[in-house]
Amino acid sequence: MNDYITNNKDRFLDELLDLLRIPSVSADSKFKDDVRKAASFLEEKLISAGADNVEICETGGHPIVYGEKMVDPSAPTVLVYGHYDVQPADPYELWDSPPFEPVIKETALHPDGAIFARGACDDKGQMYMHIKAFEAMMATNTLGCNVKFIIEGEEEVGSDNLEDFLADNKEKLEADIVLVSDTGIIANDVPSITVGLRGLSYVEVEVTGPNRDLHSGLYGGAVPNPINILSEMIASLKDENQRINVLGFYNDVVELTSVERAALARAPFNLEEFKSSIGLSDIEGESGYNSMERTSIRPTLDVNGIWGGYTGEGAKTVIPSKAHAKISMRLVPNQDPEKITKLFEEHFKSIAPKSVSVKVTPHHGGQPAVTPTDSPAYLAAAKAMEATFGKEPVPFRGGGSIPIVALFEQILGAKTVLMGFGLDSDAIHSPNEHYGLFNYYKGIETIPLFYQNYAEMK
Ligand code: BES
Ligand code: MN
Ligand code: MN
Repeated sequence: MNDYITNNKDRFLDELLDLLRIPSVSADSKFKDDVRKAASFLEEKLISAGADNVEICETGGHPIVYGEKMVDPSAPTVLVYGHYDVQPADPYELWDSPPFEPVIKETALHPDGAIFARGACDDKGQMYMHIKAFEAMMATNTLGCNVKFIIEGEEEVGSDNLEDFLADNKEKLEADIVLVSDTGIIANDVPSITVGLRGLSYVEVEVTGPNRDLHSGLYGGAVPNPINILSEMIASLKDENQRINVLGFYNDVVELTSVERAALARAPFNLEEFKSSIGLSDIEGESGYNSMERTSIRPTLDVNGIWGGYTGEGAKTVIPSKAHAKISMRLVPNQDPEKITKLFEEHFKSIAPKSVSVKVTPHHGGQPAVTPTDSPAYLAAAKAMEATFGKEPVPFRGGGSIPIVALFEQILGAKTVLMGFGLDSDAIHSPNEHYGLFNYYKGIETIPLFYQNYAEMK
């Protein structure tokens, strides 16, 4: 196995670089053909790796790539999930090299080199490790589990069509476990396995005052300014302890016991490094919780974008008619995104002064998820990582969201193992996204051990 990987190392990398050259941005319809090109690329690679029944499944949006290899009806079945779509690369001018022309450069955290490109880590690099690990197991006749691949093209826009795909193909997708590499490890010398993801509620708000933009001298002082009002409304959403003021927001939050909090605190966290890595001299957050807890077991409310009025060159004296903001709330177990969106809408409208009108438009959301640490699949992943990293991985909760994970359990009845290999510092969704060569090859090496361990333990 390791010989096969070593002998094919360069080709494994070249293929990933080819995939990264395809700008499969799901959010922007201008890249629609490229999204499909990425799907065809994967179709071809799954076939040449030895998968059966490979197909591009049409959906109401971007297609899903499916493939499988059934080796033995009595062996357990692993459903591998990943996504081939990527976030928009904007703003392009902040990239040191063009986002869809991958280059390899060394960094402090990646002395062996890292691939710089949009999607390098999220999720093309991590997803492609599974196809290459599968190829290696097929070529060396060592695949001990049945495997099914679903690789979607709409994760970054909310996986809207994947839910129906799961519901319509329950039998075809039947599996004992879902295996996903779309999260991270704490550091290259601190292996870890994500055992929880946050949910998401995302809304856009619009505050309208006067029926047109007004001269701020003729009218200013006597009329509502929607930007001033929106700012005050947003400011009131958190109290002095940074608790979220939306009525009922915390009702369903599961508080962790001190034993559970102590277990999570075993994951190393260096506050000074955290601050310096993002250029902060101080941090903040909800009272009573440390930074690691604030980004994992606690819900949040953040403004993601805010606009209105005049933002062009120079000064224009104007009271705008409208102000807008996009607001996300990260949710924790047992909060329900639809319920939270409704609570937010009611609260936000209730705090608006009579002089303005408020519109709240929900965007896609997602449910939080927790995964077990005592299941055969978790133990198989932990043992595989221990073998390749030389250290037992620590379980920890991630702050991001992969909404489909909760639906795998609800629709297919299958739990998920989140065996990711990225680093938080890999700049996913940001300019200069990258993925370590160490991490790419470590993943390709670790995945076959997962299959081997899981076949033995199940
Ligand atoms: N792979 C990420 C989620 C992630 C990254 C989880 C790192 C844990 C660690 C995924 O592609 C993503 O970006 N999810 C979105 C939500 C989605 C609905 C757009 C997110 O978390 O913002
Ligand atoms: Mn992802
Ligand atoms: Mn993402």
